[in-house]
Amino acid sequence: MQNQAKACCYEGSAEEQALYDEVAKVIEKYKGTDGALIMVLHEAQEIFGYLPMEMQQFIADGMDIPLSDVSGVVSFYSFFTPNKRGKHTIRVCQGTACYVRGGKKLVDAIHENLGVETNGTTEDGQFTFEIARCIGACGLAPAVMIDEDVYKQVTPQKLPGILALYQDPEEPEAEEEAEGGDEA
Ligand code: FES
Repeated sequence: MQNQAKACCYEGSAEEQALYDEVAKVIEKYKGTDGALIMVLHEAQEIFGYLPMEMQQFIADGMDIPLSDVSGVVSFYSFFTPNKRGKHTIRVCQGTACYVRGGKKLVDAIHENLGVETNGTTEDGQFTFEIARCIGACGLAPAVMIDEDVYKQVTPQKLPGILALYQDPEEPEAEEEAEGGDEA
């Protein structure tokens, strides 16, 4: 039997189909080699951004292994994520030092400012929001980490300014529309 991934079986947008086709090539490249599943998952996540259940099924079919094997590896390694991730990851520390110095208020402020739940991703795909359990800045708590940057002694008032550093500028069309809409 040919070692060919079942790229035929995905039914989505043309753009997503192209990504699935790429993953199919990765499956063919690694199938039958040592540690193939980890390599495939790693590259599939790089290509697709995350590993939703449909992608896990696609990989299981392509590699002729049970879906439970794939899901087991995805859930075991924290590196793999089945949820869509934002362009930036915000981690608000809720370790003891940060919690007692106002970390909880920062969590509430993120929920309010970005309209996103913990472990969720904003609708515009800009931010994924997670809780951390100590990021090594206890002396200057409460701390927030955005991607690799650590912010210390953060307050809910400082938060919008910090988030703005990571927010993509608004689409020009949207601005034009807004300007037009203001004119009476
Ligand atoms: S408890 Fe928040 S940085 Fe250590």
